[in-house]
Amino acid sequence: MTPAIPKAPLSRTAETTKRHNLRHADLLLCGGTVMTPNGAEPIDIACVQGRIMALGDLQPGWSADCVLDLTGLHVLPGVIDSQVHFREPGLEHKENLEAGTRGAVLGGVTAVFEMPNTHPLTLGATDLQAKLDAAQGRSWCDHAFYIGGSALNAESLQELEQLPGCAGIKVFMGSSFGDLLADEDDVLRRILRHGRRRLAVHAEDEARLRERKQIALDSGDVRQHPVWRDEESALKATQRIVRLAAEVNRRLHVLHVSTAEEMQFLAAHKHRVTVEVTPHHLSLQAPECYERLGSLAQMNPPVREQAHQDALWQAIRSGVVDVIGSDHAPHTLLEKSQAYPASPSGMTGVQTLLPVMLNHVHAGRLSLQRLVDLSSAGPARIFGLEGKGRIAVGFDADFSIVDLKARRRIRNDWIASVSGWSPYDGMPVVGWPIHTIVRGHCVVRDEALEGQAQGRPLRFLDVP
Ligand code: DOR
Repeated sequence: MTPAIPKAPLSRTAETTKRHNLRHADLLLCGGTVMTPNGAEPIDIACVQGRIMALGDLQPGWSADCVLDLTGLHVLPGVIDSQVHFREPGLEHKENLEAGTRGAVLGGVTAVFEMPNTHPLTLGATDLQAKLDAAQGRSWCDHAFYIGGSALNAESLQELEQLPGCAGIKVFMGSSFGDLLADEDDVLRRILRHGRRRLAVHAEDEARLRERKQIALDSGDVRQHPVWRDEESALKATQRIVRLAAEVNRRLHVLHVSTAEEMQFLAAHKHRVTVEVTPHHLSLQAPECYERLGSLAQMNPPVREQAHQDALWQAIRSGVVDVIGSDHAPHTLLEKSQAYPASPSGMTGVQTLLPVMLNHVHAGRLSLQRLVDLSSAGPARIFGLEGKGRIAVGFDADFSIVDLKARRRIRNDWIASVSGWSPYDGMPVVGWPIHTIVRGHCVVRDEALEGQAQGRPLRFLDVP
């Protein structure tokens, strides 16, 4: 049972505060189990002007405008989803910034990095500014936007990656959805030479994908998706980009790693490369998911067989994986219903990232502490996010407050995305986000949206 929360704040007047020598907070979180860098601690949190001001047993010495009783709940640092496609501008029939970020906070996510394969592509300062403007007053969580790296803008990337609100540069080595592609060595070299921030890569080898596309066309069977876009396509691209990055000593982030072979290779290159895995690669398996879900399970890189999934879990246990990102990539059910391979690849995920991963915690596949490392501390560390990713004094007051025992069923009618569906529709889970707090603003309380969209651009240590 989720404990009731006093709707009326337990406030004390300024005068009482002064008389009793109390310190005053905007928000006091009491009675929860707090996941600090030190582990799970039964402490209170005082938030002032959007920041964490104090941690400890605070009820005797503090007053507050608003007190949340979190008895029975766990307080995690706000979840940071460093891979979402919110489709705005240009593809708003699939998703938009308001609905995408609403889904994020309902799912316990407090910050997102959004991808550049929109219409127009995010290739320059004007495109980035248009996204930042569109997010103003409509984004429920904090946000940053990737700029796509391509032959068209390679020489400008050094300046572009320094723009406020830019999450960094993203490269598609294999065509996925949209027109963003950088597959030739000379273009990749130009991109890698221009810039210093960690470069995010979708690693599938375009030449091999083209050679093998006939497999998909001939079969018309979505079960052939991981055969067309096979392990070798992923490994080849990953090996190539790591080799090219070494030439100029550039750091990389390999997105949505899906194969055992890549994990083995990446484990030997951790000095240069950070690694993302997605909840769907950890939770769905071929061929069962294609038989059950058809093209709703179609994703790039593909969901693969159990042996690959086992290797991803092993890489989580051994520390090779740095972050969990959802790769939230919505398409409408109508688009998805086209005959394979005309059906577009992608599924929603930002809202289900935390419930699905908490369910894995419940099943004993990873600890809650490791989940926090992958979904908050990890992204903050590898992307150099200022003030995010840990519950510590001075950090932003971003919290995903969860009930580890809550039993719920993921349902399409809970999904805020414009596309309105989830591959997990009907799935029972244990563990659920109850309240979401972004810089001290409670935007989800008792599982319901409240307040206003007040998301702000994220700040990065590498950007002046
Ligand atoms: O399946 C995918 N769809 N993978 C990606 O990386 C991008 C995406 C999209 O934008 O639809």
